[in-house]
Amino acid sequence: MPLRFAVIGQPIEHSLSPYLHNYLLREIGEDGQYERREVAGDALTAALAQLKGQGFRGFNITIPHKQAVLPLLQEVSEQARVIGAVNTVLINESGLAGFNTDHSGFSAALAHHSYVPQQGLAAVLGAGGAARAVIFSLAESGARRIVTFGRTHERAVRMAAELSAAFPDCEITAESWDNGTIMQTVRGADLLVNATPVGMWPAVAETPLQIDFSCSHLVAADLIYNPLRTNFLLAAEAHGAKIVDGLDMFIFQGTGALKIWLGRDFDFGFRQLRAHLIKQLEEHGKH
Ligand SMILES: NC(=O)c1ccc[n+]([C@@H]2O[C@H](COP(=O)([O-])OP(=O)(O)OC[C@H]3O[C@@H](n4cnc5c(N)ncnc54)[C@H](OP(=O)(O)O)[C@@H]3O)[C@@H](O)[C@H]2O)c1
Repeated sequence: MPLRFAVIGQPIEHSLSPYLHNYLLREIGEDGQYERREVAGDALTAALAQLKGQGFRGFNITIPHKQAVLPLLQEVSEQARVIGAVNTVLINESGLAGFNTDHSGFSAALAHHSYVPQQGLAAVLGAGGAARAVIFSLAESGARRIVTFGRTHERAVRMAAELSAAFPDCEITAESWDNGTIMQTVRGADLLVNATPVGMWPAVAETPLQIDFSCSHLVAADLIYNPLRTNFLLAAEAHGAKIVDGLDMFIFQGTGALKIWLGRDFDFGFRQLRAHLIKQLEEHGKH
């Protein structure tokens, strides 16, 4: 019997996850299938029972269920509990176990670009689940100072307080969302991360920050991978930054999930997988 996997969420038709996982399953020689399932906000409990009943080994979770799923799980990893979001569930004899591989995916993407978080100041735009995973990743990797900017300031303040409690050696603060304050912080930072959806297809002309200053001291990372080069990354690169797009994090969160489901490590060809996903984005990413 082939192993069965899925990604659940709404909307789900644009998810790249089936292309990632079906490619990986083939490459590592596992007999398995990964599918998309459209699951509305009020249908989550029923969807989990169905996946379990149908013998699925595991599934990914995306918007709008990443937080809502937590109370429905029998086990939650310490990292997912602190982040407050689950993107990967393993189904085993004891029930449903939740994990977060967004944070480890982000760490792996930075490592892939030789960025070392211990050195400087990181500025993070956004205060949602992905921003929480990014801050967790940086603090876990030894970052000493992180400043976060949230459109809803109270949400960012709450996030900074909760993550500070988990990482007392890292100074995590929240500032209000205005271009001037952000720019002032970014001038002294060595990492700038866009963890908002601003600039994502189809609203590709948007950017969370007007970049018209030198960025030669910066690594600029965007979690968005559609488009691969957001306006944010294009402007940062034009002003001298080294850039990291969202596809690398996406690849590493996916390989992290598959390792959990299979209970084993595996090697894969990063460049070939990335090229495969870019092709899928070109073919299916703009419909
Ligand atoms: N590459 C990957 O593997 C990966 C993994 C996870 C997520 N992502 C991407 O990361 C992004 C964020 O995801 P998420 O799950 O964190 O979403 P989320 O929970 O909805 O949070 C989004 C955050 O962005 C802020 N925001 C939204 N629109 C904004 C605007 N116009 N101006 C300023 N701030 C704005 C929101 O502010 P409020 O608090 O005011 O609502 C919130 O803080 C998405 O694009 C997602 O696709 C990528």
